[in-house]
Amino acid sequence: MTAPTSAPARGGGRPGQDEPILSIRDLSITFSGLRALDGVSFDVPAGGVTAVIGPNGAGKTTLFNCISGIYRGEGEILLSGESLQGASPHARAALGIARTFQTPTLIEDDTVLANVMLGGFPHTRAGLLSHMVLSRRSRREETELRERCAEALDLMGILPLAGTKAADLPHGLRRRVELARALVAQPRLVLLDEPAAGISHTEALEFADLLTELAERSGATLLLVEHSVALVMRVARRIAVLDFGKLVVAGEPSLVRQDPRVLAAYLGDEDES
Ligand SMILES: Nc1ncnc2c1ncn2[C@@H]1O[C@H](COP(=O)(O)OP(=O)(O)O)[C@@H](O)[C@H]1O
Ligand SMILES: [Mg+2]
Repeated sequence: MTAPTSAPARGGGRPGQDEPILSIRDLSITFSGLRALDGVSFDVPAGGVTAVIGPNGAGKTTLFNCISGIYRGEGEILLSGESLQGASPHARAALGIARTFQTPTLIEDDTVLANVMLGGFPHTRAGLLSHMVLSRRSRREETELRERCAEALDLMGILPLAGTKAADLPHGLRRRVELARALVAQPRLVLLDEPAAGISHTEALEFADLLTELAERSGATLLLVEHSVALVMRVARRIAVLDFGKLVVAGEPSLVRQDPRVLAAYLGDEDES
């Protein structure tokens, strides 16, 4: 296992120009007879935004759970050419894989800043444990962490909300806090599970622009599971389409948009969300 790098997203440690940051090779997983992923293979190029789309139950969240090590599938997942086989979720976080969840998980009674600071501990579980670790950190470490948090909040356009209680935030802004928390660990790959779910169409398009800018400014690669096709077409340089656990097609948006199998599997029910 490679040692964790301190700031993989900020230069140094970047993969070779053509090497994908993530390769999914023949990934399969079965839950009591249900093949949730069935021989899925595709590459995520380094930099920018790549999206995974597909109908409900297609296996998108399961794919993220396999990448972050929560589920163990068959097949192989490579991060910058290195197999993640056997690496625990915490080891994967330390290697630079961060994620947000389909349902935002914020500590309601804490401020935005306190929630984002939890992201500074990729080796620990968010929550009580991180609080305990936080209280033992040196003043210098804490100052440095606060600076990184301010930077992440600024990237997400929510720095003025640092002192606001999480419980008082509208849904769209909660999504931004969660993403800022993921960025504090300075990841090289961020997995975003339906970050635009539950926000308005206009907000989603704004969010799309924010993601593009974020990928550029942070240097992190964003892998996005998204139901909003409009958002995906706006941000993604590459799209993988899943249906019933199988990869339908992977490629550039213009190619994917015209693929008859995609139209049949997914684009037709765009209004469902
Ligand atoms: N832990 C699990 N146990 C049993 N079935 C699961 C589990 N996780 C996912 N599934 C099933 O796998 C399929 C894909 O689910 P999921 O990856 O959540 O789909 P998506 O995110 O694309 O909507 C679904 O049929 C779901 O019920
Ligand atoms: Mg899902």
